[in-house]
Amino acid sequence: MVLKVAIIGAGVSGLASIKCCLSEGLEPTCFEKSDGIGGLWQFTEIPERGRNTVYRSVITNTSKEMTCFSDFPFPEDCPNYLHHSVLLKYLRAYAEHFQLLDHIQFKTTVYSIRKHPDFASTGQWVVHTETDGQQASAIFDAVMVCSGSYAEPRLPLDSFPGIEKFKGRYLHSWEYRDQKEFEGKSVLVIGAGNTGGDIASEICRTAAKVFLSIRNGTWVLSRVAVSGWPSDMIFGSRLMTYFQWILPGWIVRRMKAKIFNRWFNHENYGLVPVQSSWTPVIVNDELPCCILSGAIVVKPNVTEFTETSVIFKDGTRENNIDVIIFATGYSASFPFLEETIQNICDNSVSLYKRIFPPHLEKPTLAIIGFIAINGSIPPVAELQARWVTRVFNGLCKIPPANRMMGEVAKRKKALIKIGFPMEKDSAKASFVAYMDEIAACIGVKPNLLLLFLLDPQLALKILCGPCTPYQFRLTGPGKWEQARSAILTEWDRVLKPLKTRVVNNPRHSTASFWFLALGFSFLGASLVILKCSSRS
Ligand SMILES: Cc1cc2nc3c(=O)[nH]c(=O)nc-3n(C[C@H](O)[C@H](O)[C@H](O)COP(=O)(O)OP(=O)(O)OC[C@H]3O[C@@H](n4cnc5c(N)ncnc54)[C@H](O)[C@@H]3O)c2cc1C
Ligand SMILES: *[C@@H]1O[C@H](CO)[C@@H](O)[C@H](O)[C@H]1NC(C)=O
Ligand SMILES: *[C@@H]1O[C@H](CO)[C@@H](O)[C@H](O)[C@H]1NC(C)=O
Ligand SMILES: *[C@@H]1O[C@H](CO)[C@@H](O)[C@H](O)[C@H]1NC(C)=O
Ligand SMILES: *[C@@H]1O[C@H](CO)[C@@H](O)[C@H](O)[C@H]1NC(C)=O
Repeated sequence: MVLKVAIIGAGVSGLASIKCCLSEGLEPTCFEKSDGIGGLWQFTEIPERGRNTVYRSVITNTSKEMTCFSDFPFPEDCPNYLHHSVLLKYLRAYAEHFQLLDHIQFKTTVYSIRKHPDFASTGQWVVHTETDGQQASAIFDAVMVCSGSYAEPRLPLDSFPGIEKFKGRYLHSWEYRDQKEFEGKSVLVIGAGNTGGDIASEICRTAAKVFLSIRNGTWVLSRVAVSGWPSDMIFGSRLMTYFQWILPGWIVRRMKAKIFNRWFNHENYGLVPVQSSWTPVIVNDELPCCILSGAIVVKPNVTEFTETSVIFKDGTRENNIDVIIFATGYSASFPFLEETIQNICDNSVSLYKRIFPPHLEKPTLAIIGFIAINGSIPPVAELQARWVTRVFNGLCKIPPANRMMGEVAKRKKALIKIGFPMEKDSAKASFVAYMDEIAACIGVKPNLLLLFLLDPQLALKILCGPCTPYQFRLTGPGKWEQARSAILTEWDRVLKPLKTRVVNNPRHSTASFWFLALGFSFLGASLVILKCSSRS
């Protein structure tokens, strides 16, 4: 019997889920409330409630080789960081290539998902939908929730006394499209996440003044790393991750601070994060320059608003503020799920492997792409979907509810112990570690020791090079014949779009050389730091 799977949403996660259902012999039906695929990468000019999209100037903060689905590389002449329209084009090409569109019902909103009366024995769900005012319901053997984690803007007005008196305009960043309406205005941006940083550095070029209020500080990483390579390819390697496992936490923190401060001293710029065991990082190329040129003024937490001014925690006051933009993030929201499940889905850490609500009698409901991670989402969502569909069809086993709940509780406790704030976006998982964990469940984690014997060239790339998604298509279920060559040629695809003016230089160093050099300097640096600190 073919199992029927309901998929909620046709964004990045939904598309990957449809594809994995098809390759695992399941029958997917995807419900999408808008009229197109791509989720938040589908740019809309006019903000609509309940529908989030990127702003006009967004380019990805993850590079193309790290952001692609594992068996569908970006075209080789595609730039490394992608404008949102380019990413949307890629998603359309993916949907067409794997013939996913026939399985999507557009303009259909899922408003309720309830357990079937026989749930305890069948694990089935009743899915209620609405299309053009017409309601319908159907029974499914399993559900993949791919509705995104950026649906519900978080606007904590209660913690900003006096905001009701404020005479100017205030808005949440989900309404932001571009800098036009802020020209010549005096603007306060609250929050220094990726969005707050982006918006502040975009509007400061034409605004009269921009203040950026920062509570806890953050490290800022440029997209352009050493020698101009994409930074997620440099930092997202297994070697880096293994080093961080081996070395004690305080050394890692000190080394990270050194690396981040090499671009600019975060303390001088008022950005340095409060001392903690986790490392908040945003990706932004312009922020330091905007601060250095006085276009952005960094301020501490806001304590109070008055009719036209704002008072900060350090007692300073800025008058004549025209606009406040709250870049205070989003909350998880799955209004169509049963309340008991909704309560658990406040944070991906509460889910088994950040996917399954752990308390259900049958593991037939999975949440895809919900995880907060320090890498790109598409390959993560895809790997999650590969595993989940194999759990659904019985080829992968997962533990019973009590064991899953036990593991979730244990992980939560460990995170709280080292001082992780349990808000979304701060408890970010490590990209390489998480990908390996899920890959191991499917049986597609690359076996480095074996590879060093059989294919040392490839093994070296996998160890020292970036953890590109193709690495999870080398063996096991879902193996892709071109995976090996995709890994060996990844740096060629990085350079291809840059070859628009060919320079006739006799020789230039290759990327793998830089990798080895970087790896060894990392090792060297850690030894030096170890030595220095044991001396002092
Ligand atoms: C400004 C911004 C920049 C980002 N940049 C990057 C980046 O550079 N790299 C990266 O990897 N990630 C980035 N992200 C993260 C991004 O969330 C993921 O890349 C990815 O788009 C998540 O896809 P998704 O399918 O999980 O969710 P979404 O894209 O939000 O898609 C969810 C879909 O579900 C539909 N839906 C929701 N509820 C229902 C319902 N009840 N019934 C029917 N349909 C429903 C929605 O209409 C939507 O189409 C960025 C996010 C933002 C906000
Ligand atoms: C900073 O502001 C937020 C929101 O206004 C408030 O909840 C928080 O307690 C403040 N934190 C500090 C350290 O003042
Ligand atoms: C910010 O720092 C304060 C302590 O200074 C801490 O209590 C709080 O959890 C931090 N918030 C975030 C979101 O990291
Ligand atoms: C993500 O975090 C892990 C562990 O903290 C770290 O090893 C890795 O370098 C980080 N990856 C990126 C791309 O920053
Ligand atoms: C990229 O930006 C999005 C949205 O602001 C954010 O959620 C994500 O964590 C960022 N990714 C990285 C690797 O910093």
